[in-house]
Amino acid sequence: MGRLRDKVILVTGASRGIGKAIARAVAGEGARVIVNYRSSAKEAEELIAELRRRGFDASMVRADVSREDEVRAMFELIKRDYGVLHGIVNNAGHGSAIIWNKKFHELTWGDFEEVINVDLKGTFLCSRFGIELMSDGGSIVNVASISARSGDTMGIPYLVAKSGIIALTKAMALALAPRIRVNAVVLGSIETGWVNWLGSDEARRLISYIPMGRFGKPEEVARAVVFLLSDDAPFITGHSIVIDGGECMACD
Ligand SMILES: NC(=O)c1ccc[n+]([C@@H]2O[C@H](COP(=O)([O-])OP(=O)(O)OC[C@H]3O[C@@H](n4cnc5c(N)ncnc54)[C@H](OP(=O)(O)O)[C@@H]3O)[C@@H](O)[C@H]2O)c1
Repeated sequence: MGRLRDKVILVTGASRGIGKAIARAVAGEGARVIVNYRSSAKEAEELIAELRRRGFDASMVRADVSREDEVRAMFELIKRDYGVLHGIVNNAGHGSAIIWNKKFHELTWGDFEEVINVDLKGTFLCSRFGIELMSDGGSIVNVASISARSGDTMGIPYLVAKSGIIALTKAMALALAPRIRVNAVVLGSIETGWVNWLGSDEARRLISYIPMGRFGKPEEVARAVVFLLSDDAPFITGHSIVIDGGECMACD
């Protein structure tokens, strides 16, 4: 059957990491999934081939979510090919170890712009153009981070962008109710490419802050996203689900 049967759902930044796991989960629940990517064409092609082999309905579309012209063109393609959209997962995120590791006094405003343009502007643009196709109603899920709630000495542009995403989630939920629900997932440390930046001592130190005693898995995020996209969450809007193994229990 599938909890997202026949729904058309766009996942941004789905060529790798968490977005890829979300695309797999969404397709597995019967949705027609659209995989957005920016530069990892080969990974996106492999994912589409895998999903089609498994009998799922999947297509891919390239767009840099930080560029209005490319986002506009992406939604024109989606309109042409599908005519309608039921869900958007704003997952694309700027991943730069260099900016992440800069201390406050080393940062430039250009660093902020680089990160904010992908995470926050990308979320705004995809939502702004995407809602035009959500004539049957729908659900938007934005991806934020616990560092937006707790503050941090590292990744400062990133946590500022993610704070903006939490604020935007609430504003959009109010603006788009009751037709479209808008929620966020607020993530702790999830095991994707960035874990390779860490030495084993650093990984052990980070894990020591997590009551569950490990990093999260992309598939564990995907399950919560499927729930928020589905008709199992018809009365949930404007909220966040924190997925962090208990790390941020005392953040609020
Ligand atoms: N992993 C964690 O611990 C963690 C924690 C908190 C929040 N998050 C958030 O979760 C999301 C996914 O994280 P991840 O760890 O899976 O990241 P990742 O492995 O670095 O993957 C990032 C994805 O975003 C895409 N992307 C980057 N810039 C883009 C752009 N301008 N336009 C379109 N796509 C773009 C990349 O596509 P290309 O390769 O094709 O460019 C890639 O598919 C991000 O928003 C991240 O901030 C992750």
